[in-house]
Amino acid sequence: MTEVFAHRGLSGLYPENTMIAFKAAAKLPIDGIELDVQLTKDNVPIVIHDVTLDRTTEGRGMVREHTLDQIRSYSAGTWYSEQFRVEKVPTLEEVLVWAKEETLKLNIELKGPAWEREELWEAVKLLIDRYNMIEQVIISSFDHVLIAKIQKEVPMLETAVIVVSGMYQPLSYIQTIGTKGFHYFFPLMLEHEVKPLMEAGVLVRPYTINDKQMLKKAFQSKVTAIFTDYPHIALQLKDE
Ligand code: G3P
Ligand code: CA
Repeated sequence: MTEVFAHRGLSGLYPENTMIAFKAAAKLPIDGIELDVQLTKDNVPIVIHDVTLDRTTEGRGMVREHTLDQIRSYSAGTWYSEQFRVEKVPTLEEVLVWAKEETLKLNIELKGPAWEREELWEAVKLLIDRYNMIEQVIISSFDHVLIAKIQKEVPMLETAVIVVSGMYQPLSYIQTIGTKGFHYFFPLMLEHEVKPLMEAGVLVRPYTINDKQMLKKAFQSKVTAIFTDYPHIALQLKDE
């Protein structure tokens, strides 16, 4: 049965990557939540998608050039609606502490530039260890060098590569990296291109599917999971 992951929380109805979006998603019978992580100026892993604060907070400029205190002084909800003014950019720690009490999987996507990959991973690893979350998290990234490194370092940890293009011979590529997870941009790969991956035991999770017809198509092809901003709609379609 295809699993449903709430992409950036229930981001179709709430400001993305905020605690209210995560908590609303967790009220649904979903399987997991996806979120994006970057470092602040003072090296704290926080949950935000863009490299700048501009789109999703009241702050301006690069995330990496602001301290946690500065970032927490901005609302992360008003860009979406004034009613979400109290929402702040969560720290990863805050999300882990909350998620530990839930039965959800957490897909932590590591963002950020390649030259900061070690710092980001060390900070995230510390938290996963501190809260004993190794069995509850999936670490994914567009940075496949980082995913290969993580998988070697912590073989028990579930990882995934994220790809944004069609892939030629993806199975051998995935096997070279040593990961079990393949997160691909749904419109760019065909069912018969991902099926051999599933048959080989790869965990195949297309993103980010919001269109009803595409959701139906993904459920029919029995992919491992889908990422969607509208998990409540995806769950209805899955039941049909
Ligand atoms: O992890 C899948 C998806 O979240 C990757 O794209 O830009 O939404 O982080 P993006
Ligand atoms: Ca993401």
